[in-house]
Amino acid sequence: MKGLKGRVALVTGGTGLLGSAIAMRLAAEQAIVAVSSRNLSKARAWAEEKEKTDAKYIPVQLNLADEKSIRSCLDYIEEQASIPTIIVANASLREGVGVPFEKITHSSFTNLFEVDIAGHVLLLRHSVERLAGQPASIVFCSSIYGQVGVDHRIYPEGMAPTPVQYAAVKAAAEGATRWLAAAWGERGVRVNALVAGGVSAAQSNEFVKRYSERTMLRRMALADEVASAAAFLASDEASYVTGHCLVVDGGLTAW
Ligand SMILES: NC(=O)c1ccc[n+]([C@@H]2O[C@H](COP(=O)([O-])OP(=O)(O)OC[C@H]3O[C@@H](n4cnc5c(N)ncnc54)[C@H](OP(=O)(O)O)[C@@H]3O)[C@@H](O)[C@H]2O)c1
Repeated sequence: MKGLKGRVALVTGGTGLLGSAIAMRLAAEQAIVAVSSRNLSKARAWAEEKEKTDAKYIPVQLNLADEKSIRSCLDYIEEQASIPTIIVANASLREGVGVPFEKITHSSFTNLFEVDIAGHVLLLRHSVERLAGQPASIVFCSSIYGQVGVDHRIYPEGMAPTPVQYAAVKAAAEGATRWLAAAWGERGVRVNALVAGGVSAAQSNEFVKRYSERTMLRRMALADEVASAAAFLASDEASYVTGHCLVVDGGLTAW
């Protein structure tokens, strides 16, 4: 893909399910990829394992709930390479996702919004400030549940539906995407959202069956399929795309 070779990229939460796939895809396109985790040893172990291929990664610590950590993360990447001109805002606070609706509290919302929205927006603002006019591309990881309702009927007994605060935070990510795209368009910083459908992982067979029936392609996504779309939005192939929400969901939201 055009415009990824040699670029410095940061994938937040880069050791997770989608973050890993996105980081590896960007590295395969010869970007230099900083991979963050709240736990530095985890990021280092991830990078060590993946560097068995010839990709190069910069493992870095980042806690999006802490502005000091955001600044140190950027300092470190700048020291190792340069300020990233690609940022994939992929991290999401998963703790609390399984809590049933009756048990959620104020902090179920505030903790999630603090990390996913406040943390990422501050990370992006600090990065863009340090770019001194260089063009950049930013990809926010959203979800179909930022756009359509959660179908409670597909969750088998004992499995909590995707929670209300998650749907709300993803809708917020898409709002932030458009706001930042408008603010930074003039300086050549593109901001888009990748709206992913459910990714195949260790879900129960019953859930996979019910979820798949809701998609036109009758299956869940592979992490690599979502990563391809992230790489496209980050690359110069998408040079005239900004403020956009690219849906990668096997058709779930299209009918
Ligand atoms: N999986 C899906 O089916 C799916 C579908 C649609 C959209 N998405 C979106 O795709 C993104 C990745 O999802 P995933 O399934 O790959 O999740 P995941 O494996 O749980 O990864 C999320 C990552 O977020 C990081 N994180 C959590 N709190 C953080 C904090 N305070 N500061 C910095 N990083 C933090 C975690 O990193 P550490 O624990 O290492 O710090 C973790 O690796 C999310 O935005 C999610 O909403 C996922």
